[in-house]
Amino acid sequence: MPDSRPIGVFDSGVGGLSVLKEMRRLHPREDIIYYADSAHCPYGLKKPEEIVARSLKICDFLLSRGSKLLVVACNTASVAGLDIYRQKYSVPIVGMEPAVKPATAVTRNGRVGVLATGVTLAGERFSSLLERYQNGSDVYSQPCPGLVEMVETGCHDSPDTARALKRYVDPLLERDVDTIVLGCTHYPFLKEMVQSIAGPDITIIDTGEAVARQVGRVLSQYGLGNIEREKGLELFHTSGETGEVGPVIKKLWGGNPKVTHTPL
Ligand code: DGL
Repeated sequence: MPDSRPIGVFDSGVGGLSVLKEMRRLHPREDIIYYADSAHCPYGLKKPEEIVARSLKICDFLLSRGSKLLVVACNTASVAGLDIYRQKYSVPIVGMEPAVKPATAVTRNGRVGVLATGVTLAGERFSSLLERYQNGSDVYSQPCPGLVEMVETGCHDSPDTARALKRYVDPLLERDVDTIVLGCTHYPFLKEMVQSIAGPDITIIDTGEAVARQVGRVLSQYGLGNIEREKGLELFHTSGETGEVGPVIKKLWGGNPKVTHTPL
């Protein structure tokens, strides 16, 4: 039986669009509702309990719109409360975490850098990731305050952003890392910039595709796939002002996205 209900996806803002792109590529038939909590962005400067409270509100909204599956397209919101969301809701929930495991598997010199928000790097989930997958490698964490805001305002390709990014990538290069993990969903929009600062020999890893694959596994495991549909639709909601957030979604997503102001 095809399941035509949408997949609900959220992030603190537009960062989760980097995950959505991979989901759209791998699951073209699914309808998707995306919620950008732009009025409360960045999550990386909030207390975990505030992030959990926002995330629960957003999950309630996405479920009220009939979501069959939720994707927390935000490392920070996942680290803050994935277990809490999973306990509360009966639909399957796919979360994300910085790609430490793939990074320690591919590093050639055993030195890995992780760029993420302060909340993600300070969270228990991240320490447990390191315990499980550090695998004898040295893993250097680098919080990046300010970067999310730059992507949120559509400045992901500006010289100011390049300068800020360099301040965060340089300390990792000084540690001689050969692999850098993009541990925040906003950062894949800066991937080319990171590569040009770090140089062609550094491997850069993000998690969007792995999350989209996991969504595929969950859809088949629970029989939730929308297998009859030709082409799925995306609806975008934001707690921010559509006049500000709409153009950024358009810039990062392309086409003519329908963006609705939905304060929660
Ligand atoms: N995009 C988010 C993440 O993956 C959160 C960024 C923020 O709001 O600080 O962590």
